[in-house]
Amino acid sequence: MDESELARGLEGVTVAETRLSDIDGEAGDLVVGGFPVADLATNATYEEALFLLYNDRLPTAAELDAFRADLADRRSVADEVRDVLRMAAEAGDPPMDALRAGVAAANLDTGEANPEGTARRAVAVLPTIAAAYWRYRQGTAPVEPDGGLRHAANYLYMLTGEEPDEASVRGLETYLNTVIDHGLNASTFAARVVISTESDIVSAVTAAVGALKGPLHGGAPGPVLDMLQEVHDSGDPESYVRTKLDAGERLMGFGHRVYRVRDPRAAVLSGAAERFYDAGGDAAFFETVTAFEEVATDLLAEYKPGRSLETNVEFYTAALLHGVGIPRDLFTPTFAVARVGGWTAHCLEQLQDNRLIRPRARYVGDRDRTWRPLADR
Ligand code: COA
Repeated sequence: MDESELARGLEGVTVAETRLSDIDGEAGDLVVGGFPVADLATNATYEEALFLLYNDRLPTAAELDAFRADLADRRSVADEVRDVLRMAAEAGDPPMDALRAGVAAANLDTGEANPEGTARRAVAVLPTIAAAYWRYRQGTAPVEPDGGLRHAANYLYMLTGEEPDEASVRGLETYLNTVIDHGLNASTFAARVVISTESDIVSAVTAAVGALKGPLHGGAPGPVLDMLQEVHDSGDPESYVRTKLDAGERLMGFGHRVYRVRDPRAAVLSGAAERFYDAGGDAAFFETVTAFEEVATDLLAEYKPGRSLETNVEFYTAALLHGVGIPRDLFTPTFAVARVGGWTAHCLEQLQDNRLIRPRARYVGDRDRTWRPLADR
């Protein structure tokens, strides 16, 4: 009989040391690569944030140029991968299924085996896969990546075929940086478990995409957008919220397992969304968003006194991604496009001082069954 304490869901268990990010749920602080998330997210390009996670320091201008060029060189996918994405789109398969299938095949034609190169390949190729799937779903042909555009700009370009404006690129880039890493969340843990067997980084990223697909992890911003659009149409946030809470339902985009105050990423993303919508977006929609937050936060305090239920990252993610032109169905794949930076950085970190991750389960089954031949059952 195993007497060790049972930690369901591994809550409160520390299984790794990391230099990548740290969450203080009581204070509402998030540090990424040594910076408060607001500083990193609003100042860095995605490539800079990624270099920081991989190297534990910011790049020089020359290093950043070389890193950017290397990532840009790794963006294309083979025709056969596109065929899989086309099949998935035509069959109406969910976008995360297409992403998982695409990333699993991402290295088959490159011969790349070293972890650093494979990590960069995984990061570079995810936007290409998501965009190609989306283009097929729209009945159009994929757009070839443009090596002259930085990571975020190229993603938007591959979705629309048009070079995006700077406000949209900065909006998306701020999002990608804000969620690039967030401690040992489920998908990051999945990636670390896989790489701890000394498997490869593409396998680890494939597992992580599978973990992120689940509605308990990466699925909230789509429903948040539905909710915001419904309230924007009705113009009555209070009755929307009361109806939901009276029915015992949860409001999407509020509450968090770790944060007991407003999610610091919500602050970063609300600022980014405000800048974006001020620069020429749908200002009336953004007014609905901010008004809804105020009404919902007050009503959650009324309905759930003593519980601190405030805005989480998904609330402003929905507003910002919708604004910059990411289709609703690509919200979770776009989360993966961001988080793959953290997944791969965690894999490289795990490999530096690897120990196979192998927890135990407490056996609660029978022990004294007697085998009966098939004919006797
Ligand atoms: N709307 C209404 N009530 C909520 C709520 C929400 N978004 N989040 C939590 N609550 C309530 C619960 O109903 C529960 O009330 P009760 O004690 O009267 O039963 C109480 O707050 C505690 O809930 P609990 O499930 O223990 O909180 P948790 O820490 O496990 O939940 C989430 C964290 C994120 C799963 C939860 O807040 C949630 O479902 N939020 C909505 C989905 C979402 O936005 N997900 C994205 C997360 S980044």
